[in-house]
Amino acid sequence: MTQITITGRRPLRGQVRAAGAKNAALPILASTLLGGGDCQVTNLPLVRDVATMNTLLGLLGATVKQDRNQVVINTDTVQSLEAPYDLVKTMRASVLVLGPLLARFGEAVVSLPGGCAIGQRPVNLHLDGLKKLGATIELEHGYIRAHASGLKGERIDLETPTVTGTENLMMAACLAKGTTIINNAAMEPEIEDLAKFLNRRGANVSGAGSSHIVIEGVTKLQETEYSVMPDRIETGTYLIAGMVTGGDVEVSDCIPGHLDLLTSKLRESGAEVLETPNSVRVKAPKRIQALDVQTFPYPGFPTDLQAQMMAMMCVADGTSVITENVFEGRFLHVSELQRMGASITVDGSRAVVKGVSQLTGAPVMASDLRASAGLILAGLAAEGDTHITRVYHLERGYERMEDKLQGLGALVKREPSSV
Ligand code: UD1
Repeated sequence: MTQITITGRRPLRGQVRAAGAKNAALPILASTLLGGGDCQVTNLPLVRDVATMNTLLGLLGATVKQDRNQVVINTDTVQSLEAPYDLVKTMRASVLVLGPLLARFGEAVVSLPGGCAIGQRPVNLHLDGLKKLGATIELEHGYIRAHASGLKGERIDLETPTVTGTENLMMAACLAKGTTIINNAAMEPEIEDLAKFLNRRGANVSGAGSSHIVIEGVTKLQETEYSVMPDRIETGTYLIAGMVTGGDVEVSDCIPGHLDLLTSKLRESGAEVLETPNSVRVKAPKRIQALDVQTFPYPGFPTDLQAQMMAMMCVADGTSVITENVFEGRFLHVSELQRMGASITVDGSRAVVKGVSQLTGAPVMASDLRASAGLILAGLAAEGDTHITRVYHLERGYERMEDKLQGLGALVKREPSSV
């Protein structure tokens, strides 16, 4: 096991490049199961979840040839239609293979993702939608067993705008007969990126990125090349890292429009924000002002930046309130931040954060991907050394984070740990 040790209170300064978006890469890779020869995907982030998805595709029989940030996948060789528990338990997004496998082969067996550190995360809406398209679904021994003899386009009204649910249904509908309409679809930019990839392969998807997506089914898809969009959550994480350290950080190769709510919140807290068409620079104020933030589905404030924002509020002037509306129980980082001297009280989905003049370094434990990022940021702001264990969570979604932080002037190192 390894741990990350950060010696805090060094202002981060300079430029860092955004990696490809993990949450766009995962459905794009899964969608290669819809068939159609060699698909070359570039700007792939080198993170554990992407490696897990490639492993899963390989297990199903696909040919996966990866060379650093690009991969060529051919699913013409697929033989197995089963995503096993051992893999799915390490990454919930494995459920993204369900829609494509079912649409192309008429059958799929995917382990139910089960519990997860950030609260209940059911997949009932994925399954209800697939049933609407004509699938028969049984839950047996912890597995989803789906069958269909040809999916048929239908209107699906999602009860809540689920991101991977929208993606699963959109992918399945590409090979369904007729027109599928997804209402109350999730509007995340990663869904639009997936639709662009699918359309380049000959699918007919319109409206992705809005709450109303229309998919005209086609009989097959063709091969293509595609570059994954930049990661808005990684971008936001480095901008907030600059803020908590009183620094000046620019993230290049990103899409500023995907971060509008974050940058307006950072301005509200006193930052100077400078944007070009493909970069964002944030200069921290002398003192960060307290803020209220509520997470919502896109275009609302992303739940995936909530922990990082909380780390910033811990050292702000005044009292902030964070309301987590997307995932119940996504406050596991609070008790660790408290160990670093933060003043936070949680009442249901609300956390009240009283800014303190200084956090102090401490040994802390990461509980999920974004919580780990929050702890890294707190460590960067804290006086003394912070040792963060269970950093494998971080590796699921951040490419070369220590290198990138060091490039900005952070004192951060990876060491062996006993936990
Ligand atoms: C995706 C992202 C994750 C992000 C989340 C919310 C990927 C791979 N992961 O996760 O990083 O934190 O969106 O922005 O893209 N729900 C149901 N039934 C369902 C599905 C979801 O009730 O069948 C509920 C969930 O419990 C949650 C809400 O819908 O309260 C949103 O979850 P969802 O959008 O599905 O999250 P993921 O797609 O798993």
